[in-house]
Amino acid sequence: MKKILLSSLLYILSTQIISALENTTCKTCHPKIYREYQHSIHANSSIYKDSLHKAIWDRHPDKKKNIYKCVKCHTPSDHDLISGKSKLTDNPIQQTEPISCQACHQIESIEKHAKANKNIFTNKKKYFFSADAKKKGEKVVFKEEKSLFGLLTKTSGSPYHTIDYSNENYYNGESCMGCHAHKQGGNGFTICDLEVKQGNAKESCISCHMPKQPGTFVNLKNTQTHAFHGISIHNGTPTHLSKSIKLNLKTQDKGFTVSIHNKATHALFVHPLRLGQLKVSIERGKDHIVLKPTPFHRVIGKAGKPTMPWLADTVLKDTTIKADEIRIVQFDTALQKGDTVIIELGYHLANPKMAAKLGIKDKRLTEFTRLAQKRVTIE
Ligand code: HEC
Ligand code: HEC
Ligand code: HEC
Ligand code: HEC
Ligand code: HEC
Repeated sequence: MKKILLSSLLYILSTQIISALENTTCKTCHPKIYREYQHSIHANSSIYKDSLHKAIWDRHPDKKKNIYKCVKCHTPSDHDLISGKSKLTDNPIQQTEPISCQACHQIESIEKHAKANKNIFTNKKKYFFSADAKKKGEKVVFKEEKSLFGLLTKTSGSPYHTIDYSNENYYNGESCMGCHAHKQGGNGFTICDLEVKQGNAKESCISCHMPKQPGTFVNLKNTQTHAFHGISIHNGTPTHLSKSIKLNLKTQDKGFTVSIHNKATHALFVHPLRLGQLKVSIERGKDHIVLKPTPFHRVIGKAGKPTMPWLADTVLKDTTIKADEIRIVQFDTALQKGDTVIIELGYHLANPKMAAKLGIKDKRLTEFTRLAQKRVTIE
């Protein structure tokens, strides 16, 4: 008897866990997007999946109190954790959908705050916002039209949900800004700020980070393309982003300059853990001359020394490249005819020096990821 009770209890628990996984439903009709999503950073943003996030959390003063305030941006889909019903524990949501499909598609508006913005979600069930220039302004509910005395059925919309194409935030990228705009520490000091300058730029967060890919997005309805859902800069070189960085070389009498034009609508390498680098080398005959790399980063700290984000109250150094800025870097090495100059711009997710201090051993977090490259032969 006891055994039966226990097993039925386990059964109920397990079905509850399964039904609590929101993405399971989406997966059946949107398999391609689901597959891309699984490799994205938004599917891997919990401490159980992102070792860099874990390394910082392990040292955070809130950990001792077991108050995981990071929840609203890093794992908003763990609803019990947000509401305080449960504490931070490893569970299937943390493992597979910390920022679920709904966590993005149900953001109705963004409330602006100095500390950090806030996502306001729609409370309508099975109601998702999306963008499609051709359908802009429409609200699409499922329709079945019979013709030829009911022999042919034409359907439109999704049989599972309503789609709202009228929310401007899904066209201009504002829907990303609840989590991505900026963040202050407890003392009001700005830890991180993307310094977004959208202006009248043609590209948005969505067009650059979710570019159209060939292939269909649903199994019920074929389309030529779909928005890429594998957003990540963790999984190797983000080649589709390279076109937003323009590198150029100009020779001078006693040296040369390299210019970096950041065409993104935000500053680059703003996260306090990041280290951007410009690497330049020269191929001269049989020689390969490697010049000293130029760092780009925002170093924060206290009393003149770099510290953990929650202790920081001053910016010690800020060499991040701002939106639409053209940064010129000067080199004193004189170039010769026949030289080939190799210019690379890239970054380390975690500054190797900081990673060593934090005891981070995962090489993927400290290796150099190339963002843009140019080879110039001097004539
Ligand atoms: C029963 C199948 C089905 C399920 C389940 C389903 N969808 Fe859909 N979805 C569709 C179909 C079909 C369309 C295309 C509708 C159209 O183009 O008129 C669609 C379209 C969409 C769109 C808008 C696409 C556009 O044109 O921009 C979004 C966003 C979306 N679904 C999200 C989701 C999410 C999130 C889930 C899980 C909670 C989900 N869907 C579950 C069938 C489904
Ligand atoms: C307001 C939303 C927000 C909150 C709250 C938040 N984060 Fe983040 N965090 C982000 C965003 C957005 C990124 C990605 C930034 C980027 O890549 O430039 C990020 C990135 C990180 C990274 C870098 C991860 C990597 O793999 O590169 C770490 C570490 C991190 N956060 C730690 C924390 C910790 C610890 C907390 C809680 C004490 C926290 N964050 C709270 C939004 C937030
Ligand atoms: C014109 C193209 C473009 C647009 C528009 C754009 N980005 Fe980026 N973004 C880039 C490039 C290029 C990088 C790579 C540099 C890097 O990894 O830091 C990047 C990097 C990032 C990163 C990682 C930063 C880091 O160093 O950790 C985040 C987060 C990000 N973008 C979010 C956004 C958001 C949110 C928006 C909308 C406000 C946006 N982007 C708009 C091109 C763009
Ligand atoms: C980081 C936020 C985010 C997450 C997470 C996310 N989406 Fe999206 N999705 C968007 C945005 C923004 C668009 C609109 C892109 C466009 O077409 O301009 C979109 C577009 C779509 C579309 C329409 C594709 C097209 O190009 O017509 C579908 C379908 C969709 N999402 C389904 C899903 C499903 C299913 C999941 C979970 C597996 C998911 N989304 C997770 C932000 C997100
Ligand atoms: C619910 C909060 C949330 C929303 C909404 C959101 N993001 Fe993120 N995003 C995050 C967090 C948290 C991270 C960092 C996760 C980590 O590194 O562990 C992140 C990371 C990123 C990164 C950096 C990837 C990397 O590998 O470091 C990019 C680029 C990005 N997001 C783009 C977007 C875009 C574009 C949108 C809007 C379509 C968006 N995000 C919407 C929370 C969010």
